[in-house]
Amino acid sequence: MASLKLENIYKSFVKDQIVIDNFSIAIKDGEFLVLVGPSGCGKSTLLRIIAGLEEATSGDVFIGDRLVNNIHPKDRDIAMVFQNYALYPHMNVFDNLAFGLKLRKVDKSEITERVEEAAKILEIEDLLARKPKELSGGQRQRVALGRSIVRDPKVFLFDEPLSNLDAKLRVQMRTEIKKLHKRLKTTMVYVTHDQVEAMTMGDRIIVLKDGIVQQVGSPVEVYHNPINMFVAGFIGAPAMNFITGDIKNAQLVCDSFSIDLSELSEINKHEGQKVIFGIRPEDIHLDTNGFSLPLLVMEPLGNETLLHLEGKHTAILAKVRSTDATELGDNVNIRFDTKQICLFDCKSLKRIL
Ligand SMILES: Nc1ncnc2c1ncn2[C@@H]1O[C@H](COP(=O)(O)OP(=O)(O)OP(=O)(O)O)[C@@H](O)[C@H]1O
Ligand SMILES: [Mg+2]
Repeated sequence: MASLKLENIYKSFVKDQIVIDNFSIAIKDGEFLVLVGPSGCGKSTLLRIIAGLEEATSGDVFIGDRLVNNIHPKDRDIAMVFQNYALYPHMNVFDNLAFGLKLRKVDKSEITERVEEAAKILEIEDLLARKPKELSGGQRQRVALGRSIVRDPKVFLFDEPLSNLDAKLRVQMRTEIKKLHKRLKTTMVYVTHDQVEAMTMGDRIIVLKDGIVQQVGSPVEVYHNPINMFVAGFIGAPAMNFITGDIKNAQLVCDSFSIDLSELSEINKHEGQKVIFGIRPEDIHLDTNGFSLPLLVMEPLGNETLLHLEGKHTAILAKVRSTDATELGDNVNIRFDTKQICLFDCKSLKRIL
């Protein structure tokens, strides 16, 4: 087990095109850190730099207290699990699990012991004689995990390991990986572009965009206190609503309606300012005294129902209890929970309130 530290990492593959821009983080021993961001933002590149499969243009990587910039990947004591499990098709599960250890010339009896232990943890003991093609997607992913476990690494790196699985299996494997972390207590860095995975799995999450860290924090912090409009829009499903408007007399004035914000103590500071107003779908409530908007579509999800409402220039999505959403007409009256709103500066897109 070990802590992991990245200091001022820059990476460009092509001159003048920065892929990772001054990335620094200290990951505690035993922490589960999730790196989340849209496709192409540099997540895999960062993992590959940690693993030593890619060299940083500048910056330092430490595993524990050891500077590993010049240490070969196989000597970094790191295990990486990829999206495509890359199992050896001609080998059975036992041999797939044992392969890395055999290469390292580990003693035969110890190999058997470690493979059996990993198989037990992952509940694949009955599958050891099967070939990968005789396994389901979830079972294959377990074998891929098992291959890392047998190595007993200091750090696990996961690069979107669940994205090939169907929705149900993803949820199941998500829990399995969390359980694994709880049991092994090894430092884990987990990359995903799925914000639900990030929220549910991480002790801390890092939101990355265009190679630049946007925010680092616990899932709850990032969800409730997004630092800018990108983070606010990226974290949370369905996504936060954004409405452009002006602050006039402590009101948000936009095309379709005005909202009284006078109960927000700092609203006066922004008088006259053009802002982007953000509100999450669950913070919009049905209220007969609220303002009225046309209802375009209703999507019942079981316990909750999504209401697609039509503002003049903006669509608005509300999430309400299904029991409250019966007998709605063509127009619905809604109220925003103004304590839960975010305001962003129109130009910098940074959060101002
Ligand atoms: N070997 C390479 N040569 C040149 N450019 C590269 C190379 N590898 C990655 N890139 C570029 O670096 C950027 C970051 O790529 P990276 O694979 O790290 O993104 P990602 O966040 O993992 O995306 P995804 O979610 O799609 O996997 C992309 O613009 C990509 O095109
Ligand atoms: Mg990637």
